[in-house]
Amino acid sequence: MTKTRRMIAEQIRHVDAVCEILDARIPVSSRNPDVDELTAGKPRLVVLNRVDQADPEGTRAWAAYFRARGYAVLESDAKGGAGTGKFAAAVRELLADKLRAYAEKGQVGRVVRVMILGIPNVGKSTFINKVAGRKTAKTEDRPGVTRSKQWVPIDRGLELLDTPGILWPKFEDQSVGLNLAFTGAVKDDILDVETLGCHLTAYLGERYPGALESAYKLSALPEREAEENDVAWGYRLLEAAGRRRGFLISGGEVDTERMAKILLDEFRAGKLGRFTLELPS
Ligand code: G4P
Repeated sequence: MTKTRRMIAEQIRHVDAVCEILDARIPVSSRNPDVDELTAGKPRLVVLNRVDQADPEGTRAWAAYFRARGYAVLESDAKGGAGTGKFAAAVRELLADKLRAYAEKGQVGRVVRVMILGIPNVGKSTFINKVAGRKTAKTEDRPGVTRSKQWVPIDRGLELLDTPGILWPKFEDQSVGLNLAFTGAVKDDILDVETLGCHLTAYLGERYPGALESAYKLSALPEREAEENDVAWGYRLLEAAGRRRGFLISGGEVDTERMAKILLDEFRAGKLGRFTLELPS
C-alpha cells in the first residue's frame, strides 16, 4: 500500500465524512477507485470541480449519477469561486442526522471533520483555499513543506483534513490515460503529441463536431469512413484544421504535429469550448 493510502486508512476513523474532488470533465478518469474501499461506510461528498470547463449537460448527468448512488454532490469552479460557498451547507446537509444526534445528546459545538481527497491537478488546493477563505499551506510530502496531516478550520465547527502525499489516478485502460493527458493532468509524454491530438479531434469530431467546425472555420468535417479508427480519422481532422490555419510544410503538406500541439493548448485553455470527455454509461 502506498504511503498516501496508508495515511487515508489511518485517518479515516477521525473524520465524519469524505469529500472527493473530481474533474467534472472526466469524473471517472480523475477518480482513484481504491478510495471506495478505503473510505467505506463514511458519508461522501463528490465535488465536480472545473464545471466552468465542462459541458453543462455532462455535469448535470454526472451530478444525477452520483446522487443516485447516495453521494452528496457539489458543482464547483474553484478558480472563479462559483459553488465553493455552498460547501459548508452541503456538508451539514450530508451529516444532518449525525448533527441532530449530537444536538440531542447536548454535544453542541462538536467539530465536524471532513477528509479531502483528489488526484494531482484536479484543483484541490484552489478549492481548499476558496472554501477556507484564505491561502493555506500546501501539504506536500517533501522536506521543508508541511508534511504531516493538516487540519484546516473552515467555518464554525467544521474542519478539513487535507491529505499530504499524492493520490495517483489509476491507469486502468487507455481511455483514462488519454483523458488525463487531454486535460493536462498528466504530462503529454504518455503518447506523442500528434497521436494525442488525433485522439482528441476524433472524440470532439464525434461528440462536438460543431465546436471543431467553428474553432477551425471548417464548413463541414471530413466524413469518417467505415472501419476508420480514431487515430486515422483524427489525423484527417487535424490535417483539415491545420490547412485552414495555414500550417504547411514543404510540398504543401500540413504540419499536423504543430496543429496537434496548438489544438491541445487551445483545448486546455478553454478556447474550443466546454467539453465533458466521458459520460455515465
Ligand atoms: P491541485 O492542488 O489539485 O494539484 O491543483 P491546484 O489547486 O494547484 O490547481 C491546478 C490548476 O488548476 C491551477 O491553475 C488552478 O488555478 C486551476 N484550477 C483549479 N480549479 C479550477 C476550476 O474549477 N476551473 C478552472 N478553470 N481552473 C481551475 P494554474 O494554471 O496552475 O495556476 P493559476 O495560473 O490559476 O494560478
